[in-house]
Amino acid sequence: MSSNPTPNEILSELTQAAEKQWQALQNPAVPVIYVGHATCGRAAGSQETIDGFKDALEEKGLEAEIITVGCLGHCYAEPLVTIHYPGFPPLMYQKVGAGEARVLVNSFIQGGEDPCFEYLLGALEPNDTFPTLMDYPRYLYEKRVIMDQCGLIDPHSLDHYLAVGGYQSLAKVLEKGDKWVVEEIKSAHLRGRGGAGFPAGIKWDIARQAEKTPKVVICNGDEGDPGAYMDRTLMESNPHQVLEGLAIAALAIGASRAVLYIRAEYPLAVSTIEQAIAAAKECNLLGDRILGTDFSLEVSVFQGSGAFVCGEETALIQSIQGNRGMPRYRPPYPAVEGLDGLPTVINNVKTLSTVPAIVRKGSHWFRNIGTEKTPGTAIFSVVGDVEYAGLVEVPMGVSLEHLIFEVCGGIKDGKPFKAVQIGGPSGGCLPESELSTPIDFDSLRQAGAMMGSGGMVVMNDETCMVEVARYFIDFTQHESCGKCTFCRVGTRHLLEILKGLTKGEGSDDDIAELQTLGEEIIKGSLCSLGKTAPNPVLTTLRFFKDEYLAHYREHRCPALMCRDLIAYYIDLETCARGCDACVACCPTEAIFTTSNRKKAIDQEKCVKCGECVYACPPEYDAVRKVSPPEMVPDQGIKPLDKEEEENNE
Ligand SMILES: Cc1cc2nc3c(=O)[nH]c(=O)nc-3n(C[C@H](O)[C@H](O)[C@H](O)COP(=O)(O)O)c2cc1C
Ligand code: SF4
Ligand code: SF4
Repeated sequence: MSSNPTPNEILSELTQAAEKQWQALQNPAVPVIYVGHATCGRAAGSQETIDGFKDALEEKGLEAEIITVGCLGHCYAEPLVTIHYPGFPPLMYQKVGAGEARVLVNSFIQGGEDPCFEYLLGALEPNDTFPTLMDYPRYLYEKRVIMDQCGLIDPHSLDHYLAVGGYQSLAKVLEKGDKWVVEEIKSAHLRGRGGAGFPAGIKWDIARQAEKTPKVVICNGDEGDPGAYMDRTLMESNPHQVLEGLAIAALAIGASRAVLYIRAEYPLAVSTIEQAIAAAKECNLLGDRILGTDFSLEVSVFQGSGAFVCGEETALIQSIQGNRGMPRYRPPYPAVEGLDGLPTVINNVKTLSTVPAIVRKGSHWFRNIGTEKTPGTAIFSVVGDVEYAGLVEVPMGVSLEHLIFEVCGGIKDGKPFKAVQIGGPSGGCLPESELSTPIDFDSLRQAGAMMGSGGMVVMNDETCMVEVARYFIDFTQHESCGKCTFCRVGTRHLLEILKGLTKGEGSDDDIAELQTLGEEIIKGSLCSLGKTAPNPVLTTLRFFKDEYLAHYREHRCPALMCRDLIAYYIDLETCARGCDACVACCPTEAIFTTSNRKKAIDQEKCVKCGECVYACPPEYDAVRKVSPPEMVPDQGIKPLDKEEEENNE
């Protein structure tokens, strides 16, 4: 190395050992077992899987290396395990519990004889023997830019990140300078992934040119949308990528302080990021005089207390300053006057995670992915009634239909599609007729939905859209900070009307009120919480008005979901004489034996939990659900009298 080594030269020194170690892992001498151990893997039991492997290996006296990795996004298949047995391509297995781990050790790891096709998802590399993951649409149609390494590297190993090209973009920017990187990000047309889609390069430029110093960069990892977990996954699965993007943003605007705002309900993300900060500091990739230059960056984590509104950038700043998280009027925007009055760039986790790839591969490469107005990829957490739920990264511009039906395998159990709710709690609900809508900020907004931060709930025909609107308004109403009257009182009023409708109460005036009040709340609210909160109501009114009308005009819930408007009864034609399967499951003892030893439901006692539907053996399938409740037929049944009961026993 020269006496005044460049950042690239210092980084190469660090990377050499990491690459050697990585190469050894690619051609292992002993079997290597990779276990997905992010939050979704843990929820599915990955710790038991790890213990299962350890116990079985110990019992057999076998040698193997176990490495924990993050989340690959295929949450429907967790716990996910990849086994790289010497001489075989790396093989990925799905739903591996402790029992399956034991079988894999006994059949495969001990001698490599039987690769257990019954649990196999596919090989990670092309080969002549095994199907590869690319044979499945779920893998084939994805375009991995941000999640490229998620589930493949150990998030707690800085060496793994270095070996796959980590921190090279930071070294490049340290040599090329702040102006260069701002222009590169501008030229890439990278739009913020936190919801609003504001161009990151322009935001950076405003902060860079602001006179006040010192400057601050904040990574927004609040992610309060119910059902969304993209940012959590990125922080848990590839924390150094987030930190590298954060350091580049800081360098671009001349900031000396960086804060990661992560909600306290994400303890694994917090500890993974904290561990990554410490490792990067130790190797002079963060902290003082990074990679031998004049650039220093103090990085810390701030844990948010879980209020949805604290994800809004001005409320987030208040929260860090120790105040109640309430949005304020903008301008001034944080890029000019943010944390402690200093110029502050706030970017989403996904936005920052995209930056290293753009710097490494160039803005031209990035612009070739996605659409002209929104280049790059979108990550969605696709949940609900979809076959392959999980995190999906696709190029911007693909249609909703492609995402739901091709990539995610369509609706579970072959049921009909009803609607998709996109963009978090304030997103709109779109019906089948809108499925050709391309996924990008502008097209979704035009359709009445929004990108938001990427939450997507897919619903089948058993979902009541009035209840869906009530559920989301209930959430936003609770989360309103209370500053604006329209948001605070208006959403409460919407909620009261919706609650009434789900009970069959309401009038034509209520429907008109939902519409006009929804529009007024949008106009009269300060921040996007209030400005978007009525979306679920307005879109369900627009696309599913018949369902609203059925609730109050016919006291009927067409989707058979609203409890006050449904009832259960047992079809005596199909009920099996003497079968007791449903009796034990009923929490209110509402099911009684009839005089002909079949079962019936006492409507007075039934709380409509639906447990008996699942308890009834499929070959009888005798429990019926109807709406309105008056549809329960009068079957002229009565409970057994005492004598009959005794004879029955
Ligand atoms: C109620 C509300 C909640 C928000 N929550 C988040 C969040 O959890 N994460 C996020 O990145 N942005 C969130 N935003 C958007 C932020 O205000 C801000 O636009 C974003 O962090 C900027 O980053 P970007 O330019 O990279 O998108 C929220 C906005 C509102 C109105
Ligand atoms: S719109 Fe709602 S959440 Fe936003 S500032 Fe006003 S009251 Fe608070
Ligand atoms: S729906 Fe629930 S409460 Fe009603 S009869 Fe069935 S199990 Fe009992």
